[in-house]
Amino acid sequence: GVSARPFLPEVTSGEPSHSIARLRDAAAVCQGCDLHGPATQTVFGVGNPNAKLVLVGEQPGDREDLAGEPFVGPAGQLLRETLSEVGLDPAELYITNSVKHFKFKPTGKRRLHVKPAAREVAACRPWLEAELDVIRPKMVVALGATAAGVLLGPGFRLLKSRGQVQRSDHAKWTIATYHPSAILRVPNEATRETMRKAFLEDLHFAAEHYR
Ligand code: URA
Ligand code: SF4
Repeated sequence: GVSARPFLPEVTSGEPSHSIARLRDAAAVCQGCDLHGPATQTVFGVGNPNAKLVLVGEQPGDREDLAGEPFVGPAGQLLRETLSEVGLDPAELYITNSVKHFKFKPTGKRRLHVKPAAREVAACRPWLEAELDVIRPKMVVALGATAAGVLLGPGFRLLKSRGQVQRSDHAKWTIATYHPSAILRVPNEATRETMRKAFLEDLHFAAEHYR
């Protein structure tokens, strides 16, 4: 089946920064699933390879695909604003995605974001696992249901267990919260504000506990 696995380098030794750099170089030429074809480039994780807190999103969007960096578009702006509100410096953290290539449908001049299929999420998973193996953070925050599914299994229910500390193999503490894009998409202002507050609370909890 489709998998990033054959593209992964050995990263059993060396500094985390060295190993993350090797993973990033290898991921740049990954053809583990069909998403690499239409996309501009692999969008690998960024930030501190010694981070105690790792944030995991879904997949790059249009802006991220062009920039080659995660969370630089509208969702990234909400994320960065909220990080700043809880006193977290993005440079201190490591920020990555469950899927490393942008998936889209071309519609005229805009490229419309398409949710990754389960097989693409599964194919890309070895990159995220390798990142977490190298970094060994104390805490991981899953942003949205896709990342939560990868980190906590298909039985995890975001709406039921959002913000609650979960056991996982990847870190002492894992929590899942809303995806910032999901917050931005809610048309009802009161609902959107409620979700934003919950998102802020969850990142506040992370800020208080990740050290
Ligand atoms: N949404 C994500 O999940 N990741 C990004 O990098 C940008 C938007
Ligand atoms: Fe490889 Fe992931 Fe890109 Fe698929 S989405 S080609 S598995 S990096």
